[in-house]
Amino acid sequence: MTRSPRANSFLGKAVMKAILSERFAVYAYECIAAISTDDKHVARALDDAKEEARHARALEKAARHDRIPLFDSDVPDAQMSELRAAFTRLFDAGDRIACIYAQDILLEQVAIHLYEALLVGARNGSAPVLASLVEQILVDERSHVASAVEEIRSEVGFVERSRGLAVATATLMPVIAKYGAKKPGAPCASVCSTCRGRCCKLDAKAVDLPLKGGTLRLVRAVKSTLSQIEAA
Ligand code: SF4
Ligand SMILES: [Fe+2]
Ligand SMILES: [Fe+2]
Repeated sequence: MTRSPRANSFLGKAVMKAILSERFAVYAYECIAAISTDDKHVARALDDAKEEARHARALEKAARHDRIPLFDSDVPDAQMSELRAAFTRLFDAGDRIACIYAQDILLEQVAIHLYEALLVGARNGSAPVLASLVEQILVDERSHVASAVEEIRSEVGFVERSRGLAVATATLMPVIAKYGAKKPGAPCASVCSTCRGRCCKLDAKAVDLPLKGGTLRLVRAVKSTLSQIEAA
């Protein structure tokens, strides 16, 4: 089936965003490994970093296979640069627990949310290789969240958990909120450089992707993960 130019535009931009967030995740897990002292924690963070790097490579390959045009992957993306600067402040402070909340809980849930949308877009946009890859990536990302939940629940006391979550949220949320939708399905105020002058959300209709209610679903998913940590 021939894909429309707008469907190609949505898929190309969304895949590039996903590749950039995978590269960010590699950096975040390497930071977490560098400030972990327990061998088991270092190994988990390094394994996750390798898995995120594999995801980034596999996304490029799937896009080629499904003939989805990608942009120059070295284009600087303002959103990613700001997220990196925010995360680096947590890393520079040596705050391992806040880094875990930031990467494994908040940003992984954002990634899962984006992949769920990309899965619908890939299926509806006749990109079967990408769709099947995104299904596998979703399993991996959910397992990253699950292992972080388990680690925090079993090893971190209540006061330290509350502190870590508060610091991670205060550091990351201004950046996430700045690029979040002003109203359901709307692009952010500025158009990001990866989207090259036109937000990919504006082409979501071309792959029958409903955007309404997305932010609410994301907030519910984060809340549900946090309540798993606090569950007895
Ligand atoms: S323009 Fe804004 S809302 Fe659209 S993809 Fe880029 S960062 Fe996201
Ligand atoms: Fe990933
Ligand atoms: Fe992940």
